[in-house]
Amino acid sequence: MEVKTIGIVGAGQMGSGIAQVAAQVGGFNIILNDIAEEFVNRGLKTVTTNLERLVEKGRLTSEEKEAVLGRIKKSVALRDMEQADFIIEAATEREDLKINIFRELDKLCRPEIILASNTSSIPITRISAATNRPDKVIGMHFFNPVPVMRLVEVIKGLATSDETFQITFSLAEKMGKTPVRCNDFPGFVANRILVPMINEAIYALMEGVGEAKDIDEIMKLGANHPMGPLALADLIGLDTCLAIMEVLHKGFGDDKYRPCPLLRKYVDAGYLGRKTGRGFYEYK
Ligand code: CAA
Repeated sequence: MEVKTIGIVGAGQMGSGIAQVAAQVGGFNIILNDIAEEFVNRGLKTVTTNLERLVEKGRLTSEEKEAVLGRIKKSVALRDMEQADFIIEAATEREDLKINIFRELDKLCRPEIILASNTSSIPITRISAATNRPDKVIGMHFFNPVPVMRLVEVIKGLATSDETFQITFSLAEKMGKTPVRCNDFPGFVANRILVPMINEAIYALMEGVGEAKDIDEIMKLGANHPMGPLALADLIGLDTCLAIMEVLHKGFGDDKYRPCPLLRKYVDAGYLGRKTGRGFYEYK
């Protein structure tokens, strides 16, 4: 079956970024869904701003921008996903929430439709077990900022079929991404390595080894990272970083993955990074 319309559940920073590349690079029709209109509008605003910037840089014409936006349809009812040929779920990183969404999608979508999750760490095998089509459930993990980052981790759960894997892999390529295969273990590959590094940087901050800007500068200059780990935590979202550390801690049962108490404290305070205007840094 040819994929023409992609349903995206969740219009936050990941969902809106995926909608942009799927509509702009892949030329797909998109149904962008969230639980309230204000969230969908906010996601669409991000896409519009990004496209306008490309027009300013001369990389896209105004007509192309309008055509891309015209391919993205707003939705606040999960039922609209019935019309999609492929689903990418990019909701908040909470297992109960994702499991519920997959249960609902399994009821709504035609049996041959693939249900992909952009989860950053929750086991695909567990999500797939909540459906009657575990062979058609897969991880499709994009990176932030989605329009810039080339990687998509394509994660096979225990029951995911080779056909599902191939279709998902080539869909990521059609979106201009470089998909890489990995297996279903907590945090997959990228976050298993990246987020403990961020967590360690937060321990260094908590223990007074350095100030935030100095820790970041050291990692930028000393390890050639494009941004320091604390600035990256602010970009990813501190709540997401904490959720990933908790999945690693619980999934491996190993205390080397314990979340830093300072990370927990920031999340408790609502300092979630760029999206709330304050994390390890302040954003105007
Ligand atoms: N949306 C769209 N485009 C963006 C963007 C955004 N949010 N942020 C930056 N860009 C674009 C800019 O427009 C610019 O484009 P051009 O070069 O084509 O003009 C380009 O990216 C570079 O941006 P800047 O010059 O403003 O800044 P920079 O050179 O410092 O790059 C960065 C910014 C791309 C974010 C870079 O710092 C970087 O790569 N940081 C690391 C990002 C990273 O590690 N991401 C993975 C996070 S982990 C994750 O996402 C997985 C998970 O599950 C948690």
